[in-house]
Order: sequence, then C-alpha cells, then structure tokens
Amino acid sequence: MNPPRILILHGPNLNLLGQREPHIYGSTTLDQINGSLVGLGADLGLDVVHFQSNHEGGLIDRLHAARLDGTRWIIINPAAYTHTSVALRDAIAATDLPFVEVHLSNVYRREAFRHRSYFSDLAVAVISGCGAQGYELALRHAAAELSNRKN
Ligand code: DQA
Repeated sequence: MNPPRILILHGPNLNLLGQREPHIYGSTTLDQINGSLVGLGADLGLDVVHFQSNHEGGLIDRLHAARLDGTRWIIINPAAYTHTSVALRDAIAATDLPFVEVHLSNVYRREAFRHRSYFSDLAVAVISGCGAQGYELALRHAAAELSNRKN
C-alpha cells in the first residue's frame, strides 16, 4: 500500500523565510523546513509533498488538486491569507480533509488584525508560536491521527 500523502501548503511571503523579519519568523529557510518534513515523513511512513505560492489562486488550485491526488491530511500556513481569505477557506473546506493550521509566530501576541483566522474553526488543531518546530508537531499529530483512524 502507498504511504498516506500529506500536503504541506505555505502561503505568501513564506518563500522569504530566513531573510524576512528573522526576529519574528526565525532563521530557518523554507527549503530547510520542507527538507526536514520530507525526512521526518519518511521516518513516520508518510509521503510528504509541499507547495508554496504568493498567489491566492495558486493555493486554491493546489487544494482542488488535493481532492483528487490521494492527499489524506493537510498542514497549512496560510500566512497573511489567514486573516483575509474566504476563498482559501472555502477551498480547504471543499477538500473535506482534516488539516492543522500552523503559524511560526504567536499571532495572538501580535497586531489585532492577526487575531482573526478564517481557518481555525475548521482546523483539527492550531499551532502558533513554536517557530519551524510547529510544522514538525503538526506532522507528528497527523501521523498519530492517521494511524488511529486505521485501527
Ligand atoms: C504567519 C503569521 C501571519 O500573520 C503573517 O501574515 C505571516 C506568517 C506566521 O507563520 O506566523 O505571513 O502565518
């Protein structure tokens, strides 16, 4: 049987991780995050794929593809679209897949406009403020949940 596929989706400006406001977002690059998630996924028996876009439509199209490509779980950092995008919310709802919402920073310690999320009420879990480690925690949770659901 093929390992369960996990889609990691990164929203706008996250391609600049490592260079962008490192005092807020840390010094780890997106390539480093993706590389370690693919490695951890292999250890956990998961097929981790990842996608980043600075465009709302690109992220929406990738979610539509996830409905048909065998994806079993999504880990998403919608970045600024967290606070603005009904369209991305509708697209993730349309997948009918479980997902974890991840933010590198603790959005609740920041500006008030970052306190609203269009995703959190649909998410299985929200991880905010653990830096790059938040993605790893999300992946471990997905692995545990998927193996519970199998039993
Ligand atoms: C972010 C928090 C958002 O408010 C911000 O727009 C981002 C990154 C985070 O990972 O902490 O781009 O999602």
